[in-house]
Amino acid sequence: MLAARNRERLQALADDCARLGAHAIAVPTDVTDPAQCEAMIAQAVEHFGGVDVLVANAGATMWSRFDELEDLSILEHIMAVNYFGAVYCTRAALPWLKRARGQIVAVASVAGLTGVPARSGYCATKHAMVGFFDSLRIELADDGVSVTVVAPDFVVSEIHRRALGADGRPLGKTPMQESRIMTADRCAELIVAAAAKRQRLLITSRRGRLGRWLKLIWPGLIDRIARRAIEQRH
Ligand SMILES: NC(=O)c1ccc[n+]([C@@H]2O[C@H](COP(=O)([O-])OP(=O)(O)OC[C@H]3O[C@@H](n4cnc5c(N)ncnc54)[C@H](OP(=O)(O)O)[C@@H]3O)[C@@H](O)[C@H]2O)c1
Repeated sequence: MLAARNRERLQALADDCARLGAHAIAVPTDVTDPAQCEAMIAQAVEHFGGVDVLVANAGATMWSRFDELEDLSILEHIMAVNYFGAVYCTRAALPWLKRARGQIVAVASVAGLTGVPARSGYCATKHAMVGFFDSLRIELADDGVSVTVVAPDFVVSEIHRRALGADGRPLGKTPMQESRIMTADRCAELIVAAAAKRQRLLITSRRGRLGRWLKLIWPGLIDRIARRAIEQRH
């Protein structure tokens, strides 16, 4: 079952899935609304008889220093999508996931593991996700529901051009050097493989994996790497 806000694009994706031999339904949903998340899961149950895997992937980002932000509601909006959206979907799906001894795949970010300039509000949402899902993993261990937290590094997608700038409007074009970052297909392959193994944490880049350890002994170096990644945009 595929959920996002744009009905036409969702249906086109469901049609692509059908062409590849999968059975998919498109359910337009705004994850910032708990009632819509409940209704979306209810449709999944009605159509498929239950929920085995929940992938909490909907996300939005920003591109602005905090001291240049003109409108703080940007931070509330991205928290509503990234964090509360994942929480509402999880709450709705949980009874069914328990019944299926299923799994949750929570798409966070390397920005959920360390600070990143121009992304303070986004980092906060992803740190919130990591804290929430790390806690839930412990709570659900006896129910046989596993939690895979995904921490992608930069990926080519629409999120960069849709990132909200200091004035609260989408940038409109990507600031990233897209030829130098991971493709969405590759990222999806890594996520599927990690989910199949019920892996606890997937970090998609070498610098992300190394950074996790290095941060313990040399946190200032990790700050410099994060700063350079934003300045060089890859
Ligand atoms: N791309 C990266 O560099 C990167 C790196 C680390 C982590 N991530 C994470 O990966 C996830 C996927 O992002 P992406 O890079 O694929 O970005 P994307 O191309 O912009 O896709 C974001 C998806 O979220 C949906 N969405 C946004 N707001 C929503 C809402 N209120 N309700 C329901 N769906 C909503 C969008 O569909 P509609 O607009 O139609 O609703 C779209 O399908 C996000 O959680 C992001 O934070 C991305």
